[in-house]
Amino acid sequence: MKVALVTGASSGIGYETAKNLAKKDYIVYAGSRTVENMQSLKAYHANIVQLDVTNQQQIQQVINEIINKEGKIDVLVNSAGYGSLGAVEDIKLSEAKKQFDVNLFGLSEVIKAVLPSMRANQNGTIVNVSSVSGRLPSYFGAWYNASKHALEGYSSSLRLEVSDFGIKVVVIQPGSINTNWGLIAADNLAKVSRGGAYHEKSALISDMLRTQFKSNQLPQPSVVAKRIVKTIEHNHIRQRFIVGKFAKCLVFVNKILPGKLYNWIIQRGI
Ligand SMILES: NC(=O)c1ccc[n+]([C@@H]2O[C@H](COP(=O)([O-])OP(=O)(O)OC[C@H]3O[C@@H](n4cnc5c(N)ncnc54)[C@H](OP(=O)(O)O)[C@@H]3O)[C@@H](O)[C@H]2O)c1
Repeated sequence: MKVALVTGASSGIGYETAKNLAKKDYIVYAGSRTVENMQSLKAYHANIVQLDVTNQQQIQQVINEIINKEGKIDVLVNSAGYGSLGAVEDIKLSEAKKQFDVNLFGLSEVIKAVLPSMRANQNGTIVNVSSVSGRLPSYFGAWYNASKHALEGYSSSLRLEVSDFGIKVVVIQPGSINTNWGLIAADNLAKVSRGGAYHEKSALISDMLRTQFKSNQLPQPSVVAKRIVKTIEHNHIRQRFIVGKFAKCLVFVNKILPGKLYNWIIQRGI
């Protein structure tokens, strides 16, 4: 049986991915900071582990435990992440660093911890959950988008160095998906901009985010999870997958329009 570790498995995309892999008879290790929110995954025989991706010691401990018990890790899905939205002027450097600590450096520490086992087995799949924000601009997304753009570049280079060991690296780029992400991002945005020069527009966008993410009109995280599982199980030539019709449409429009015109449309849409 194949062994999979999923980070950010207490909610949204990570939760659904852990559930879907467990249903497919993978031995699943579901990790996040909040173990209480993963208890329901036990019904699918997933193993629950406390895993803060910014805690290097905890990462190594969890990976060692999995290797000692299962002898290998075949699949790593990096879904842990959050959106630190806000105007560049409003976001403190400490928060920008935290954004990168979770969305990029933490993710990389998990990858570094699983690579020795994958190299020894000459086999492995690493799925990095990026975002369309890893290729497109978005309002008040400077640090979030920077972290996802960085993840894109990181993943492309990592792929070159590990493919000789039979390890594939896949990037998933979801558009807006019905998870807690939008509400957390909206709260972050409202909090950092309160009373400042960008307050008015930030309030508008955080309200829009709340409405959008509460509306139930966005694609469900299971859509992304299914894409991830398909990607793990099949050997595609493609290395990046956009998920969501609206996201695909945005990427297409961004590709065909001059940058100024694209930005004008995005700015007018708000
Ligand atoms: N939803 C969207 O619209 C959307 C679109 C594009 C990309 N994404 C990306 O998809 C990924 C998953 O997000 P989601 O939509 O599923 O949001 P979510 O429902 O808020 O889930 C985020 C997960 O990340 C975990 N997490 C946050 N900080 C962590 C840390 N330091 N260590 C370990 N886990 C941590 C959270 O668990 P704990 O708090 O329990 O640790 C939670 O399980 C993220 O990388 C996000 O940027 C989301």
